[in-house]
Amino acid sequence: MAPRAAGKRVVLGVTGGIAAYKAVEVCRRLVDAGVHVMPVLTDDALRFVGEATFSALASERCRHSLWDDAEAIPHIRLGQVAELIVVVPATARFIGSYAGGIADGLLLATVLATRAPVVVCPAMHTEMWEHPAVQENLSILVRRGVQVVPPDEGRLAGGDVGAGRMAEPAEIVDAVLGMLEVGPRAVARRHKDLVGRRVLVSAGGTREPIDPVRFIGNRSSGKQGHAIADAASERGAQVVLVTATAKPGPPGATVVRVDTAAEMQEALLEHATDADVVVMAAAVADFRPKAPSGRKLSRSEGLHEIVFEPTPDILAELGRRRREGQVLVGFAAETHEVAQRAAAKLSAKRADLIVANDVSVPEAGFDHDTNAVTILAVDGSSRQVPLASKREVADAILDIVVDRLLDRDAPAGGDRDPRSDL
Ligand code: C5P
Repeated sequence: MAPRAAGKRVVLGVTGGIAAYKAVEVCRRLVDAGVHVMPVLTDDALRFVGEATFSALASERCRHSLWDDAEAIPHIRLGQVAELIVVVPATARFIGSYAGGIADGLLLATVLATRAPVVVCPAMHTEMWEHPAVQENLSILVRRGVQVVPPDEGRLAGGDVGAGRMAEPAEIVDAVLGMLEVGPRAVARRHKDLVGRRVLVSAGGTREPIDPVRFIGNRSSGKQGHAIADAASERGAQVVLVTATAKPGPPGATVVRVDTAAEMQEALLEHATDADVVVMAAAVADFRPKAPSGRKLSRSEGLHEIVFEPTPDILAELGRRRREGQVLVGFAAETHEVAQRAAAKLSAKRADLIVANDVSVPEAGFDHDTNAVTILAVDGSSRQVPLASKREVADAILDIVVDRLLDRDAPAGGDRDPRSDL
């Protein structure tokens, strides 16, 4: 038995999807773990599973209506007494209505009337799961602190196979018990922790034209930025990757290909407006030829003088325009005074994190498959990541990003000290 979870009151919401039959198993396992389970079924859930089943297995009788109860306001009581609400399965309609604040029925009224943490377990066909409307609604919920136990890939109703199959009951029960005992961080760590988050990443080195065939560039390969985009995508984020390379982006990501700092700035400012996280891993040129020639400069014309002008500082601009709650990450690729220069960038660019990258370390930085960094945070903390694959470095950065996102979430998502309600 999970000691801290024992006796806790959990509303088990069940909505109308075929995965509703798995909610019976979730109910039984939670009761076995000592949890006080209060089932609430939607009208459509009743088409898949019976009220009698839940009434028999749960700690209280099953409820499904706002109106047939002796209590005048059952949703308020349920919302107030619940220490956690878990919705198994959560249909596209439930997610949409909850995001929109539509109290259509007892379960929706209850999740809107509670201050307890809410966990949703989506289940639907792949097409619906991947629909932007569903993903946007989920993002809204995640931003408000709702925890998501994301669906797996597998067999769906009708014999189709794909993403959208609800997580297994054991995994859901694990998440609920983890939430009751430790709080959302424990749950986030066990699951895809960037589901519902929009992550914007820049990668590669910009090229600033001298003439139509020549450019000023740098040694950046884009490997670190692409590794961050890949890691974020695998951790469930909706990724927009603005890249100055020809490398493929992660499956399902929006990839914008750019050449110059100006093009990169335009793409990033456009996509940053609704991003939850921006990681500026690109090596942006600091200067560009002021007046690139429209035709190829030739040797026969003799030496040419190139006058440079500064490029826009994109990270600083993103810092100025940052929307509330957005986590902004910059890089400092340096060859000397790395720590001081990185620390100065934290404040100058109004970033939350600066990844200090000493590119003079052997096997680290430009074009290598490995990197070694120190991640500096605006709160004064820092984490060193010794030489590791760029993917491992990406995950270390994203671990800190997730912590900051959880810190900023609405109160419903904040870690509660489970002892406070003992
Ligand atoms: O101070 P510096 O410009 O080198 O800071 C590096 C950080 O700023 C990196 O995150 C890089 O992507 C970003 N940067 C930028 N625009 C520039 C130059 C750098 O956003 N013009």
